[in-house]
Amino acid sequence: MDILQKIARYREEEEKLKWEGTFAEYLKILKEKPWVAQSAHSRVYNMIKDAGVEEVNGRKRYKFFSQHLFGLEEALERLVEEYFHPAAKRLDVRKRILLLMGPVGGGKSTLVTLLKRGLEEYSKTERGAVYAIKGCPMHEDPLHLIPHHLRDDFYKEYGIRIEGELSPLNMMRLEKEYGGRIEDVLVERIFFSENRRVGIGTFSPSDPKSQDIADLTGSIDFSTIAEYGSESDPRAYRFDGELNKANRGIMEFQEMLKCDEKFLWHLLSLTQEGNFKAGRFALISADELIIAHTNETEYRSFIANKKNEALHSRIIVMPIPYNLRVSEEERIYEKMIRESDVADVHIAPHTLRIAAMFTILTRLKESKRPDVDLLKKMRLYDGEMIEGFSEVDVEELKKEHPDEGMSGIDPRYVINRISACIIRKEVPSINALDVLRSLKEGLDQHPSITKEDRERYLNFISLVRKEYDEIAKQEVQKAFVYSYEESAKTLMDNYLDNVEAYCNKTKLRDPLTGEEMNPDEKLMRSIEEQIGISENAKKAFREEILIRISAYARKGQKFDYNSHERLREAIQKKLFADLKDIVKITTSTKTPDEQQLKKINEVVARLIDEYGYNSTSANELLRYVGSLLNR
Ligand SMILES: Nc1ncnc2c1ncn2[C@@H]1O[C@H](COP(=O)(O)OP(=O)(O)O)[C@@H](O)[C@H]1O
Ligand SMILES: [Mg+2]
Repeated sequence: MDILQKIARYREEEEKLKWEGTFAEYLKILKEKPWVAQSAHSRVYNMIKDAGVEEVNGRKRYKFFSQHLFGLEEALERLVEEYFHPAAKRLDVRKRILLLMGPVGGGKSTLVTLLKRGLEEYSKTERGAVYAIKGCPMHEDPLHLIPHHLRDDFYKEYGIRIEGELSPLNMMRLEKEYGGRIEDVLVERIFFSENRRVGIGTFSPSDPKSQDIADLTGSIDFSTIAEYGSESDPRAYRFDGELNKANRGIMEFQEMLKCDEKFLWHLLSLTQEGNFKAGRFALISADELIIAHTNETEYRSFIANKKNEALHSRIIVMPIPYNLRVSEEERIYEKMIRESDVADVHIAPHTLRIAAMFTILTRLKESKRPDVDLLKKMRLYDGEMIEGFSEVDVEELKKEHPDEGMSGIDPRYVINRISACIIRKEVPSINALDVLRSLKEGLDQHPSITKEDRERYLNFISLVRKEYDEIAKQEVQKAFVYSYEESAKTLMDNYLDNVEAYCNKTKLRDPLTGEEMNPDEKLMRSIEEQIGISENAKKAFREEILIRISAYARKGQKFDYNSHERLREAIQKKLFADLKDIVKITTSTKTPDEQQLKKINEVVARLIDEYGYNSTSANELLRYVGSLLNR
């Protein structure tokens, strides 16, 4: 299907969804689908829930967010459970403004945009359908038509509670256009759209002095006063403020705390009482979720100001800290790069991971535990298994600093530095060293970094540089081995067979000749020595491994190459030790002989085919590792 056909199809579908009828007909819909009368808060909550919830490591993951926001599971779980869910149940939090508080570039705007775009789509679905009084600039809830004295009866019949008063404009229309016959009032299905200003609004404060409250609550239309004879005729009023337009849906309030108090009061009465004052009219009911965002500094000074005290209790603050997991940070960069115009540049393996390590380090706080340095903490947070640490330790570490993740480097900075280094490098291929260099240079120009922080950050850059050196060496050494995984596995199986025979005091059988033989002590020692296991300690080490294997077997899991960290390290080192000289000589020679050239080409080819490099980045890697090995 080409794009024109798709457009036509889309229009058809939209046409099909349209509905218009009298209030009496609308009541029939309510009988069948009572949920269409739900509040704005409830609709938002159901939208999130309907997208699906997974349980990952005892933590809820909402699919609504998880495609777009990474590493914020805890904050999002809290947001849903402490705000959206209770608000949907008409509990008191609904009456407070939701204020997302977090560091710059931490995903607050992205989160709000997801909710807004999501709601637009949701309103086109059966479960998210919304109906309104036809022709009302505020898309007023048709149930407001039902007079107060009948609302209890309505509840008994329909099980739906009605909140809010009929607006002055619709009150007048009911009289003038429908002769007071509520059942005849026309109702239509509406579809949220920020562009068309239906149910979704954004308010961004301008200069506090010139800020006009009309932007929020609408204003008198002077050109029509003559026609209607009075300023208090609701027809002479334009209900086109952001609060009016966002009725039934969401209003985003950007930079809320930069706003004048006068402004905030309007909002607060809206959230608290569900209505606001406009022009000379009685209070106007509104049903919308107001979601604002701010950074920590602004929030602190807001809190510190005595004048704002009354406002505090009417705001619910939800922290949105930076992601603290390296792997998730990598995904953030991947996403941002995919969406940018440098998407086609080759990024060598480990580049984004190394950048992410740096970023996460800038966000972490030192632990009080002497056995946990920042690198280790970073690994633990990322879910790496480290011997001697469990989930419980990780939870404890997180509790040490509740405000962790509120400061540090933001993802946009990293992406900007990556772009800067892409532009500078002539070939469309960058590696971790390029990016680290660019990050480092950028620190000098960064406007909001203190001297101390810069020192700290420079330190992190050298720290992750060392990490990278290790990774680079390993990668090249692996690429020197023909089929690394297989060689490692074979070597380990061989070792384990020998260990088993040694511990059980049995013999091994030679696979070729079938002859019985003693365990190969020399082989076992050559592996164990790699990780410093002494002659005296070897027995205990071997027995410990056998115990581990049987523990795995009992749980029905397969013990493999990655199941025992130290053993894996020993095997790897053994494989590399055998290669050491050849890697060193081959990678660093300036004038390779034929044999060496063949090997280099073979390794480059393997780096490209199996490890995701291109020829530029593979050659750069080899050259770099050559220089490392010769230091
Ligand atoms: N946890 C995250 N998951 C996915 N993307 C993120 C995350 N944090 C930041 N980003 C990305 O970083 C950029 C800045 O985020 P933004 O939502 O504008 O932050 P804020 O409004 O908090 O300053 C966006 O491109 C956003 O997609
Ligand atoms: Mg923002």
